[in-house]
Amino acid sequence: MSMLRTLADSGSDREIRFIHSARSPKDIIFREELDELARDHGNFHIHVLCAEPDDNWRGPVGLLDDTTLLKLAPDIRERSVYVCGPEPYMKAIRGALQRIGLDPDRYREESFGGLTRPAPTPSASQAASVRFARSGIGQQCRSTQTLLEIARNVGLYLPSACGHGICGTCRVLKLAGDVETADLGGLSAEEKAEGYVLACCTRPLGEVALDL
Ligand code: FES
Repeated sequence: MSMLRTLADSGSDREIRFIHSARSPKDIIFREELDELARDHGNFHIHVLCAEPDDNWRGPVGLLDDTTLLKLAPDIRERSVYVCGPEPYMKAIRGALQRIGLDPDRYREESFGGLTRPAPTPSASQAASVRFARSGIGQQCRSTQTLLEIARNVGLYLPSACGHGICGTCRVLKLAGDVETADLGGLSAEEKAEGYVLACCTRPLGEVALDL
């Protein structure tokens, strides 16, 4: 995504095929921004496919494989291919590209995996609580749990992808309270100053309120 933004900001006229594979429509990250980029840049061709579509989904369906890759980018063997995602996903894509016959020199990848969990676990588990202000839900929890885990425990949906504080998908606004966080660059300095935290790698210390 950052590469696409850089190309857009620099006014690149390269013809780009951006393919995003999501589990369901609600898991599509940066959806509005992708729509905007496709609208504003005629050389950006954005393709999103969903493995579990809902009734309103009109795009491609299924998992990304060699057949779908060739359909979305018929000249893929002449392109440079950049892949980003969890290791099992990248392994599947590497296999598909091998079957297609992509020259390995044209392949680059960035893994979400292989990192240690970024949020340090407090030495002692302490009582904590999270108030989800917009949902009107309060939850007692422990300081060893991430905000993402706590939200899921009460049935709240918060999109996530990398789980390591890299991609910024699980961004949520903290309204009050102290937290312990260890993101790996998924938030800008401005977002941090505004009070955003990354739920996948942030743990509550005492009473915390979130805009969720
Ligand atoms: S899911 Fe990627 S930063 Fe939290």
